Order: sequence, then structure tokens, then C-alpha cells
Amino acid sequence: MKLYVTNQLPINIKDHFTDSDIDVHIAGKRPDKKEIIEHCRDAQGIICLLADSIDSEVIDNCPELRIIANYAVGYDNIDIEYARKKGIVVTNTPDVLTETTADLAFGLLIAGARRIVEADEYTRAGNFKGWRPDEMLGTDVHSKTLGIFGFGRIGQAVARRGLGFNMDIIYSSRHKKTVDFESGYVNFDTLVSRSDFISINAPLTDQTYHRFDYNTFSAMKDEAVIINTARGKIINEEDLVRALKEKTIRCACLDVYENEPEIQGELKHLDNVILTPHAGSASLKTRREMAEICINAVKDVLVRGKEPDVCVNC
Ligand code: NAP
Ligand code: GLV
Ligand code: GLV
Repeated sequence: MKLYVTNQLPINIKDHFTDSDIDVHIAGKRPDKKEIIEHCRDAQGIICLLADSIDSEVIDNCPELRIIANYAVGYDNIDIEYARKKGIVVTNTPDVLTETTADLAFGLLIAGARRIVEADEYTRAGNFKGWRPDEMLGTDVHSKTLGIFGFGRIGQAVARRGLGFNMDIIYSSRHKKTVDFESGYVNFDTLVSRSDFISINAPLTDQTYHRFDYNTFSAMKDEAVIINTARGKIINEEDLVRALKEKTIRCACLDVYENEPEIQGELKHLDNVILTPHAGSASLKTRREMAEICINAVKDVLVRGKEPDVCVNC
């Protein structure tokens, strides 16, 4: 059997398959769709990245595929329904990256409120000439209202960090959640108008696509800070740029972009933006654990003949 892996992962994958009849092929450079198809025509399994689009065209051209293991928790890059129809199991990497991603989201939140990135540039440039009452004034984090859009694993982990800062937690999701801390389930409009900080933690779906647009930004507080560590397409980026230029909101802290890896030139030139390179799960420990989950899922399907716990279309 053949397993195709579209990128090196921070773990020796081949070592994990020495006692099986699975040949592991790891891409030397990032493959485009055509190359993925070429390599997967005769493969039973693929481990892919969130940047790899595994759509019906890929699936149709890879008739032997039995498992698509996404090296990410989000799986909007895969046509999971079409895969199901073709009897292909799709898996993701939940839980192991929850706290790591929430750490980055909260780091961005504080950095945005207290202008940490801007302050670093300012200080390095020699602008700090002695303590001044009006220098680098930001906004407080503690005791403010933190609104979470998409109150799942990561959203709740971000909320728990907010509790340590005495924040009021409100959230909107399709369903009310049971959690062991105080939080308010509100509708989207209330979330938008009442929050001082809004953390986006929902998956990208047809319903969340461009959920945040110019009207949404206009309805936010002037001092609102928005943090997106979910998917870029949940925000209408062109509208966000307009809102930031007009200072409709205080700032945006973005780990994800509408057309990755492209980042709108305008975003890069605004002071009230913090940009990170889709690094939510980027700790070595977490990235290794994500790889282990993918390997285990592939073995479940191809070796053990069992449904993986992390299946998203079973
Ligand atoms: P999760 O546990 O499934 O949580 C997502 C939550 O979003 C769910 O609880 C769901 O609740 C809610 N949701 C779904 N559709 C919604 C809608 N239309 N409106 C409002 N809420 C909605 O997933 P997770 O593990 O927290 O991950 C969340 C997302 O973060 C992933 O899908 C991925 O895209 C992104 N992510 C990014 C990074 C990064 O590197 N930046 C790292 C990890 C994850 P309801 O069903 O009640 O609506
Ligand atoms: C990262 O964005 C993920 O979905 O794991
Ligand atoms: C600031 O450094 C202060 O002492 O208030």
C-alpha cells in the first residue's frame, strides 16, 4: 500500500510504518493539485495540509484512496461529503492544538490592546526618550467583555484565559453550551455590539463565510479589538481594511487570511493591525502530536480496519 504525505512533518513518519506493508512517500517540495493527483493515483492514504485542496477532482482521480488525514483541526479544504460518498474516511487533529491555539489568540488579544508590536518597533527605532504620561496609550484587557464567535474547544479555551483577567465572557454559536464557568449565550448582533474583544473561533462553513463584514465592524465599539485565529474567509478582508482605515474599530489581530498565503498589501501598511503567519498550533510539541494523530488514523483505516476516533465524515 502507499501513503502520500504532502509535506515533511516534525516527526519521522517512515519509522512509524516500518512494521507494515505501507510505503511512505513524502513530498520534497509543496505539491500543487496536479502533483497531488499524480502522487495519489495509486495511493490508499494521504496526509495533507490545510493548504491542500482535496476536492472532488482530486478524489475522482485517486480511486484507491481510503483515508484523507488532514494535518489540522479545520477541514474546510476537503470535500468531506464527496469523500463520504466514495467511502473515504476524512480525519482531523482536534484537542492537541486547542490550548496552543488559544495561547496565541490570547497573546494577540493582549498585544492588540496594549500595542506591543507597535511599541517594540517604536522603541527599537529610538523613539523612547523617557517616560511620558501620553506615550503608547492602549486599552485595558482586564474586566472587559470578551466575546467569542464559535464556542467550541478553542473558543472555550480562549474564554478560560479571559477569566484570569476578570473578563466577562459572552459567546455566540449555533447552540448553547454547557461549561463550568460563567458565560452568556447571546445572539450575533449582541456579541458584536457588546464585546470589547471579539475572538473568532468558528470553523469556515457556508454560514460563517464573510460573517464579519463592514456592517458588522460598524456595529462594534470604537475601541473593539478583533482577533481571528480561525479562518481568514470568515472576515470580508476588504471590508476590514476599510473599517481599520476609518478607525471604526481599534485594531485587528490576524493569524489567518482570506487568500493565504497572500496578504493584502494594505493590511501590511496599517498600524492598527497585528499579523502572524497562521501559527496558531505552532509549538513543536503540538505539531508532533498532530502528526501522531494522523499516523494513528492512517493505521486505523489501512492496517487495523477500524474507524478512527478523529473521523469527521463517518
Ligand atoms: P470546534 O470545537 O468544532 O469549535 C467550533 C465551534 O464553532 C463549535 O462549537 C460550533 O458550535 C461553532 N460553530 C459552528 N458553526 C457556527 C456558526 N455558523 N456560527 C457560530 N458558531 C458556529 O473546533 P475547534 O477545535 O475549536 O477549532 C475551531 C477552528 O479554529 C477550526 O475549524 C479551524 O479552522 C481553526 N483553527 C485555526 C488554527 C490556527 O492555526 N490559526 C489552529 C486550530 C484551529 P455550534 O455547533 O453550537 O455552532
Ligand atoms: C489550523 O488552522 C488548523 O485548523 O489546525
Ligand atoms: C510606572 O512605571 C509607574 O511607576 O507608575
